[in-house]
Amino acid sequence: MAKRKISIIGSTGSIGRQALEVLEKLQDKFEIIGLAGGSNIELLFEQAERFQPKYLCIGKPDKQTPDVRGKFDVLFGESGLEEICSNKENDIILVAVSGKIGLKPTLKAIENGIDIALANKETLVMAGDIVMKKAKENNVKVIPVDSEHCAIHQCIKDINQVEKLIITASGGPFLHKSVEDIKDATVEETLKHPRWNMGQKITVDSATLMNKGLEIIEAHHLFGFDYDKIEVVVHPQSIVHSAIEYKDGSVIAQLGVPSMHIPIQYAISYPERFEGIKSKSFSFSEIARLDFEKPDFEKFPFLNLAYNAGKQGGSATVVLNAANEEAVFAFLRGEIKLFDIYRITKNIYDSSEFIVEPSIDEILNIDEEIRQKTQALIKSYVTVQK
Ligand SMILES: NC(=O)c1ccc[n+]([C@@H]2O[C@H](COP(=O)([O-])OP(=O)(O)OC[C@H]3O[C@@H](n4cnc5c(N)ncnc54)[C@H](OP(=O)(O)O)[C@@H]3O)[C@@H](O)[C@H]2O)c1
Repeated sequence: MAKRKISIIGSTGSIGRQALEVLEKLQDKFEIIGLAGGSNIELLFEQAERFQPKYLCIGKPDKQTPDVRGKFDVLFGESGLEEICSNKENDIILVAVSGKIGLKPTLKAIENGIDIALANKETLVMAGDIVMKKAKENNVKVIPVDSEHCAIHQCIKDINQVEKLIITASGGPFLHKSVEDIKDATVEETLKHPRWNMGQKITVDSATLMNKGLEIIEAHHLFGFDYDKIEVVVHPQSIVHSAIEYKDGSVIAQLGVPSMHIPIQYAISYPERFEGIKSKSFSFSEIARLDFEKPDFEKFPFLNLAYNAGKQGGSATVVLNAANEEAVFAFLRGEIKLFDIYRITKNIYDSSEFIVEPSIDEILNIDEEIRQKTQALIKSYVTVQK
């Protein structure tokens, strides 16, 4: 069988590195066409030496960027990402960049009829209506990499018979801590996720449960379900990755050890399944217990805000995403406290006006405006705290 041709944008990140571990095991099944990273150029070159892609893109070049022209076909910046994603040599693109930078390259791939393995949730949170409509028009598959959506994708046989989606949440590092305990949580404590080893931004979002909020919005776009048919349940062991309930009351769940290798491998190999990087065999008898509980909407108010923004639709989710992302970066820089992330995001959300059906240009403009507005608000928090 011919090898499947793949490019990875965001190959130097947590998902990208794990994808290359998967691909290392599946060298007879895949050919790597392009790799793209942001500013970790040393690692990107190491990956290029090892996997010999045809194209390499340095997303965030600077003066220190060594000249490797001649050795690889090197592209630069956002246009380079778009060029890799437009290249019809690809059968599939793994979109593993973080943040809004994923949106335009994903659209380029879709316009060129190339299937997408989508890790970058911001693409759907910002422009899910446009992206999914274009995918349908171009007969392109958008296969989720996020473990919860990958689980749902695996459970669904006939989507018309499904009553609701049940998304599990580990609850993050502060699940059973009181508000008092976590109000002064440090960056280090917040980044200690009990189950998953991920990039910093998503790890902070997991601690505030904003990640689950973004996933609700992602699920709405991927599977076309109304928000009141998408339920969140806390499941600290992260063994049940998500579930669906059929109209007759039957519940189908997908289980496995918490590892991103499996959903990454599933997404890039779909509809086939390969042994690849299979983790150790799953054993029910080794699992002492599986716990489930309702999320605490008061301690984790981002969940309600995400449901509201999702139901509002249009540019509301763009505002939510941009304000949260800027506030998370400020928290990671040590400028604000953990709870300020929500306070700042809510303040920006409540003081913004929304557009019902924004175009991609409008989405990107709103995103930029909200980021500036949020940065200004963050400055006032920093001044007060000094
Ligand atoms: N990690 C997980 O387990 C997980 C699970 C589900 C979904 N996701 C989603 O997957 C995405 C990636 O998450 P992650 O945890 O892998 O993040 P990460 O570790 O922070 O990696 C982000 C990647 O994006 C690249 N990047 C950032 N800006 C770029 C630019 N302007 N041009 C080109 N590349 C750029 C980074 O490059 P440099 O490092 O070289 O700068 C890096 O390769 C996020 O949307 C996240 O929500 C992640």
